[in-house]
Amino acid sequence: MSTLKNKIAVITGGNSGIGLATAAEFIAQGAKVVITGRKQAAIDQAVKELGSNATGVLADTANLQHTDALVEKVKALYGSIDILFINAGVGNFFPLESATEQQFDQIMGINYKGAYFTLSKFIPLLKDGASVILLSSVSATTGMANSSVYSGSKAALNSLAKVAATELAGRKIRVNSVSPGPIDTPIMDKMGLDAATREGFAGAIRNSVPLKRFGSSTEVAKLVAFLASDDSHFITGTDYIVDGGISINAVMP
Ligand SMILES: NC(=O)c1ccc[n+]([C@@H]2O[C@H](COP(=O)([O-])OP(=O)(O)OC[C@H]3O[C@@H](n4cnc5c(N)ncnc54)[C@H](OP(=O)(O)O)[C@@H]3O)[C@@H](O)[C@H]2O)c1
Repeated sequence: MSTLKNKIAVITGGNSGIGLATAAEFIAQGAKVVITGRKQAAIDQAVKELGSNATGVLADTANLQHTDALVEKVKALYGSIDILFINAGVGNFFPLESATEQQFDQIMGINYKGAYFTLSKFIPLLKDGASVILLSSVSATTGMANSSVYSGSKAALNSLAKVAATELAGRKIRVNSVSPGPIDTPIMDKMGLDAATREGFAGAIRNSVPLKRFGSSTEVAKLVAFLASDDSHFITGTDYIVDGGISINAVMP
């Protein structure tokens, strides 16, 4: 399939999980991809896996100077881009009453401020007709305990997608968000949970999904690739849920 033939894409947080699977899907569909992350070794490994149509750039999305440098590197490489997939994010979960300012700033700094300024600073490089996808979460529209800061950061992204879709419509640039439910990626290993707590958490989540499983990164990547492609030309300012039905929140199973 070559739906994304000759398109240039930037994916933040492209060395792992959903970002890496989406980079592989974009390349399989004919695109050239720039991926970012905070760890050089992980970026190098991902680029090795993805092959010669991938370029890696070390850039912490929470650091606006890194974002400026990323924009300059992409400009020097390709001049302009067709697809911007703002995917980099972290998950940390704790009760509202014990939240610290540091936890708040870390999550909001990466998931919202980082995403916001990535979009803002890439606007001059977006081609007319480009597609922007923001990686949100079903947490944005549900009320899972202990997710107050994470959910807020993702709800802010949904709002940003709508405002940006309005502001950029004059240039035929489309902006949408994608909201996954539980997806099997390394994100849970990064939460600092011990093995028993992690398995208990994963089991409880799995049980709440009507389809009784976690989704895969590739299942999210296929949706993102559709929104990135010209097949979704008339879709902008909306949120797409890919969650095995967890947000149905059925009163009775
Ligand atoms: N997995 C799920 O169940 C799920 C559900 C809903 C939404 N999401 C969202 O999906 C997105 C991808 O997560 P994932 O599940 O694929 O997890 P993941 O495998 O941990 O991938 C996260 C990616 O984001 C990057 N990243 C994190 N902080 C960054 C920063 N400050 N600057 C640059 N890159 C950064 C990571 O790179 P480094 O390793 O270099 O930091 C990594 O490449 C996140 O926005 C997450 O909130 C995930």
